[in-house]
Amino acid sequence: MLVLGIETSCDETAAAVLKGGKELLSNVIFDQIQIHNQYGGVVPEIAGRCHVERIHHVINQSLDEAGVTLKDIDLIAVTRGPGLVGALLVGLNTAKGIAYAAQKPLIGVNHLEGHLLAVFLQEDVPFPFLALGVSGGHTDLYRVDGFGEYKLLGRTRDDAAGECFDKVAKMMGLAYPGGPVIEKLARSGNSMAFKFPRAFLGKESLDFSFSGLKTAVRNLLEKRSKGEWPELSDADIAASFQEAVVDVLVKKVLLACEQNDLQRVVVTGGVASNGALRQAVKSVTEENGIQSFFPKPIYCTDNAAMIACAGYHRYTKCGQPKDNSLNLDARATLPL
Ligand code: KG4
Ligand code: ZN
Repeated sequence: MLVLGIETSCDETAAAVLKGGKELLSNVIFDQIQIHNQYGGVVPEIAGRCHVERIHHVINQSLDEAGVTLKDIDLIAVTRGPGLVGALLVGLNTAKGIAYAAQKPLIGVNHLEGHLLAVFLQEDVPFPFLALGVSGGHTDLYRVDGFGEYKLLGRTRDDAAGECFDKVAKMMGLAYPGGPVIEKLARSGNSMAFKFPRAFLGKESLDFSFSGLKTAVRNLLEKRSKGEWPELSDADIAASFQEAVVDVLVKKVLLACEQNDLQRVVVTGGVASNGALRQAVKSVTEENGIQSFFPKPIYCTDNAAMIACAGYHRYTKCGQPKDNSLNLDARATLPL
């Protein structure tokens, strides 16, 4: 079975061809970083226009690289939410047009389900497992009991972890997206140089809050500009900030495993490409007899391979309608 995946929920225009749910034949990602960088973040209208300009080229390239034509495709899987509506509509309407013209079945995919299942591009993780989804828009803990069986255990009450990386980077005059830039800078800093606050929201809570941490970084930067803390370098601040985010994420992962009697963890979403987070989750879970799984970094940040993968599992295992779903709509806040 060949699935064409299409993803345009934010600032990546992406298409991929997946064979049999696992064998990735192509994975084309056109990111708009250079375009949005000058504004310090994603400008929704520009993202939508950019998708319109690139989408056909990206889809054609994914088919060419896979060595197939539209005729060979058995299913089209497209992100229908959550995300920027103007961006989602480009992928969704393109997918509908192709499905109608080529008479192919079409399935709408939840972007978060794409992130949660990205690891299945590499290996079959046995159910049940805990999934930590950490990206620019979400910081969620799910109990996953099977394909399509997701129970939300906790989520951020304000900023997402990735959003916090992006905002802190902006405050420090660094480029967008902030995550990879802060990670790189942090490598030459001391993560113990400054103790930023960690919000645990109560002993038993699986919710997150990152807005206080963001404010603490802003206050420290202000103080440093007035002459306090002269010994702290940008690298020290980046490393200490990253350490605070990682510390909270890791402790909540452990708590969620304990509370729900889970022995496996999947960490996924853009922030899951962070080496410090991967290392910390790996060592803490190992110490506690828990197995950890991480999609490759290229499957953590937004891509269409994970959408094709989630579409494949929904279509084959969850009894989704198998007709051309031309009535699908885009949803900015689609729940999982
Ligand atoms: O999953 P993703 O590509 O898009 C969303 O669905 O949001 O995640 C993007 C987010 C951005 O906030 C970006 O700064 C963050 O993931 N990110 C990272 C790293 N790479 C991307 N955060 C920390 N460390 C990284 N290496
Ligand atoms: Zn994403």
